[in-house]
Amino acid sequence: MIIAIDGPAASGKSTTAKLVAKKLNITNLDTGAMYRAVTLQLLRSNTDFDNIDKVSTILGNLNIDMYDYKGRNIIKLNNEDVTEEIRSSNVTKYVSEVSALLTVRETMVIKQREIGFKTDCVIEGRDIGTKVFPNADYKFYMIADIKMRANRRLKEMNQLGRIKSFDDVVSDLEIRDYKDSNRENSPLRKAVDAVEIDTSNLSIDEQVNKIINHIKINK
Ligand code: DC
Repeated sequence: MIIAIDGPAASGKSTTAKLVAKKLNITNLDTGAMYRAVTLQLLRSNTDFDNIDKVSTILGNLNIDMYDYKGRNIIKLNNEDVTEEIRSSNVTKYVSEVSALLTVRETMVIKQREIGFKTDCVIEGRDIGTKVFPNADYKFYMIADIKMRANRRLKEMNQLGRIKSFDDVVSDLEIRDYKDSNRENSPLRKAVDAVEIDTSNLSIDEQVNKIINHIKINK
């Protein structure tokens, strides 16, 4: 079973996907973390993103492992734990540019399909219901008011000791949404058959229950 959850940054996808997967006792795949890991590796190796040959070589030598450890999604890049580093502001700044590259997307989609064909999972991202798993059993598209999203992101950043103004967070989210929605390859889109959930005024429990109830009713 594949449950696809797409939507813009900070719309509540990650927390919801993780809890839905836990309730159903299935795997949770955060595809954004994969694009972040690739971005980190390209930045570390000072790769010019236009240098497709070098980008492809790096992709060919990249080993990404993802697993749950005590309720946390751990991501390893060539065996190094990069769970925190992939959330750095530098990676966040460049991830939309990197994830727009066709060679990067093709490589990541192959990996995502390999996982999804092997195991039941909740997969969250931007193009899961439209491109990666167009025949997913269930598709959801989460949206939320930009101010709500910025507040959530600001809270997460404060918890990590990162200081940014509310206006800067709003602008970062808007820029990333614009780039993710307007790229040529698999832009962020709601699949025609996805159920839209506006999380602006929902608690996390309510978001999770909406999905679980929809699945129960449409089994
Ligand atoms: O979910 P996130 O904010 O961690 O995702 C980081 C970036 O990765 C996002 O700005 C666009 C890209 N991404 C993508 O292009 N396709 C996906 N399926 C998931 C994420």
